[in-house]
Amino acid sequence: MAETPLSDLEAILLVGGQGTRLRPLTLGTPKPLLPTAGVPFLAHQLARARSFGVGRIVFATSYRAEMFSEAFGDGSAFGLSIEYMTEETPLGTGGAIRNAAEALTCGPDAPVLVLNGDILSGHDIGDQVARHVSRGAAVTLHLTEVDDPSRFGCVPTDEEGRVTAFLEKTPNPVTNLINAGCYVFTRSVIDSIPAGRVVSVERETFPGLIEDGALVLGYADASYWLDVGTPAAFVKGSRDLVLGRLASPALPGPPGDFLALPGAMISPEAKVSGGSVVGARAVVESGARITGSVLGDDCVVHADAEVVDSVVGIGARVSSGTVLRDVVIGDGAVVGAGNELLAGSRVWPGVVLPECAVRFSSDV
Ligand code: GDD
Ligand code: MG
Repeated sequence: MAETPLSDLEAILLVGGQGTRLRPLTLGTPKPLLPTAGVPFLAHQLARARSFGVGRIVFATSYRAEMFSEAFGDGSAFGLSIEYMTEETPLGTGGAIRNAAEALTCGPDAPVLVLNGDILSGHDIGDQVARHVSRGAAVTLHLTEVDDPSRFGCVPTDEEGRVTAFLEKTPNPVTNLINAGCYVFTRSVIDSIPAGRVVSVERETFPGLIEDGALVLGYADASYWLDVGTPAAFVKGSRDLVLGRLASPALPGPPGDFLALPGAMISPEAKVSGGSVVGARAVVESGARITGSVLGDDCVVHADAEVVDSVVGIGARVSSGTVLRDVVIGDGAVVGAGNELLAGSRVWPGVVLPECAVRFSSDV
C-alpha cells in the first residue's frame, strides 16, 4: 500500500512510564531512550512519524523527564519541532495526553496523533488518519493481531470496524485483535478528558466513549508490530531493525547481518551475526560468537564467549568461555569466566559474578 503523507499533523508521544519490565536497563535510562539498532529507540519512531509529514510533537514526560530534552532538544536535528510537557507525578496515559494537549496549536476538529513511546510499527499512519477523518470518528485505534492478547488491550470490532468494547489486560480476551498503541484523536475529544488527575485511556476514556455511543474506530492491519517493553522484545526489535525486517529512516547505515558502531573492535576470528549491534569502542575477542544481541558501548566480550539474544550493558565485561542466552547484563557488570546464564537471567549494574569453579563446556 502506498503511504499517505500528511502535513501539519501534530502528535503527542507518551514517554512517562518507568519501564519496570526492562530493569535493570531502565534504572538509569528511560525505555524510549535505550540504544536500539545504534540510536535511541525513539529516533526510529520520530523518523517514521516525520516520514508521514508529522511536523510537531509534544512529549508527555514524567520519569527522568530531563533526559528526553537532553537527547532531542528542540527537535530541529530531526526535522521536527518538539515540545515537552512534564507531569510532576505520573498522570496515567489519559492524564498525560490531556496535559500534553495544552501545548497543541491545532483547532478542536483537527486530528491529533497519539503514540505509545515503546512501539515499532510498519503501519501506514497516513491511511489511519485519512480513515479517521473520512469516517468522522472520535478516536481511531490502530489494531494488530497477537497470539496472547491477555497482555494487551483487547479490542473487538463490528463489521464496519466500529470498536464495541475495550478490555485492558483481560484474562478472558474475546479476540486476538489488540490495541497497538497508536491513536488518532479528534482534538476536542482530548479536551474532554478530565484535567489534573490520573486517567487511563485504556480503562476509563475508551470504555467511556464507547458507552456514550461515540464513534471509536479500529484500524486493523497486519504490518510489522512490536511492543519493546520486555528484554526479549527489546532485543528482537533491535535485531529486526538491523536486519531490515522493519525499515527505519533512523538506522545508521544500510540493513545487514550486524551493525558495528564507531570504534568497535571485532576480531576477524569472532563471529557476529543475526542483527547484533556492537556498541561504540566495544571489543569482541577471537572465537567469540555474538548472535541477535545488543552489546553496549565500551563493553568487552572476551575470547570464546557466546552471547545469544542478550543485552550486554555499557562497559560490562563478559569473560572467556561464558555462555549468555536471553539475558540482560547491567552496565559495568562483570560475568566471570565459565558462567552459563540462561532464559531471563538479569545481572544488576556493577555486579561481579565470580569465575565458575567447574567450567561449562559448550561442546558437551
Ligand atoms: N507521560 C506518561 N505518564 N506516560 C505514561 C504514563 C504516565 O503516567 N504511563 C504510561 N505511559 C506511557 C509509557 O511510557 C508507554 O510509552 C505508554 O504510555 C504505554 O505504557 P506501557 O506501560 O508500555 O503500557 P503497556 O504496554 O502495558 O500497554 C499499553 O500498550 C499496549 C500496546 O503495546 C496499552 O495501551 C495496551 O492497551 C496496549 O495493547
Ligand atoms: Mg508497552
